[in-house]
Amino acid sequence: MITHDGKMDDSTKKTLLSQLKALDNVKDGDASGHPPRLVQEHLQHHETMPGEIATLSHASGGSLKPQNSSTQLTEAVLEAARSTTMSPDQKAQAVYRHSLDLFSGLFETPTAEFIKNSKKAVGGVVDMILEDDDTAINLLKVTSHDFYTYTHSVNVGVLSVCLAKQLFKGKSSHNLREFGAGAFLHDLGKVKVDPAILNKPGRLDEWEMKRMRIHPYQSYRILMDTSQLSEECAIIAMQHHEREDGTGYPLRLKGREIHEYGKIGCIADVYDALTAKRSYKEGMPPFKALQIMKEEMIHHFEKEIFQNFVLLFSR
Ligand SMILES: [Fe+2]
Ligand SMILES: [Fe+2]
Repeated sequence: MITHDGKMDDSTKKTLLSQLKALDNVKDGDASGHPPRLVQEHLQHHETMPGEIATLSHASGGSLKPQNSSTQLTEAVLEAARSTTMSPDQKAQAVYRHSLDLFSGLFETPTAEFIKNSKKAVGGVVDMILEDDDTAINLLKVTSHDFYTYTHSVNVGVLSVCLAKQLFKGKSSHNLREFGAGAFLHDLGKVKVDPAILNKPGRLDEWEMKRMRIHPYQSYRILMDTSQLSEECAIIAMQHHEREDGTGYPLRLKGREIHEYGKIGCIADVYDALTAKRSYKEGMPPFKALQIMKEEMIHHFEKEIFQNFVLLFSR
C-alpha cells in the first residue's frame, strides 16, 4: 500500500509492476479478453516496457515547443501578477490558455526535460491561485470542458489547488506547490494508454479496463523515472481514483487509508469528468454535476471535503 508519506511498500510495488508486465505481455487473438489487433499494434509502436520510461523521456529533446510553452506560461503568470491594467478575468484567461498549450505539448512529447519544465511553470500558476483570490475564482470560471486529457489535467490542477487552498487556509504544513504540480500531472500515465481505449465511446472490455486502471501507477512511474516525484506528487498520482467506500483503483483503499490529497484529487477528477464533453455525450452543467455527486456518488467522497468543494462554486 502507499503510505501517508507517499512511499509505496515493496510488495505493493511488486504487485503493480507484475500487473503492468502482464498487461504488456498479453498476446493477440486468444479467447481470454486479450487486446484486439489494432490495440496490440499500437502498443508495439508506442508503449515502452516497465523500466524504459527514462529512455523515452530523453528521446526527443530536439523539439522547441516544450521549452517555449513552459517559458510562455511562466511569462504569462509573471505578466498577470505585475499587471495593473488586466482584469482578473483577463489574467485567468491568459494563464489558462498558456496552461492548455503547455499540457497539450506535454502529452504529445512527455520528455524528462519537458516534465521538469512543466512542473516548474505550474508552480507559478499554483502561487498565483494561492495569492490572488480574484484570479483564482476566475480561473474556475474560464475552464473549458472539451474531452482532451490535457484540458482535464489543467482543470483538475486548478480545481485541486483551489480546494486545497480552501481546506488548508493558514496551515503552513502543506507544500501546495508540490501538491499542485502533482494535481496538474496526475494523469500523465495516460500517455501509456492507447488512445483507442482512452477515447472509446462505449463500455471498455475487461482487458481495456485493466489497462485503463493501471494509469495512476503509470503516472507514478513516469514521475519517479524522471526524478520529479515528491511525496505530494506520489500520493495524488496514485490515489486520485481511490474512493472513500473502497470501490476505487488501483489499490481499493478506503476511508482513512486514503490521504486527504488523494481525496481532493478524486473529487476534482470526478467533477471534471462529469462536466467534460465527450464525443458521445454533452458535458453536464456545473450545478447538475454537483447535484449528481451529492445524490448518487457521495459515498465515494469524504463528506467534509466535498462540502468545501461545493463552496468553491458559491462565490
Ligand atoms: Fe486518472
Ligand atoms: Fe484524471
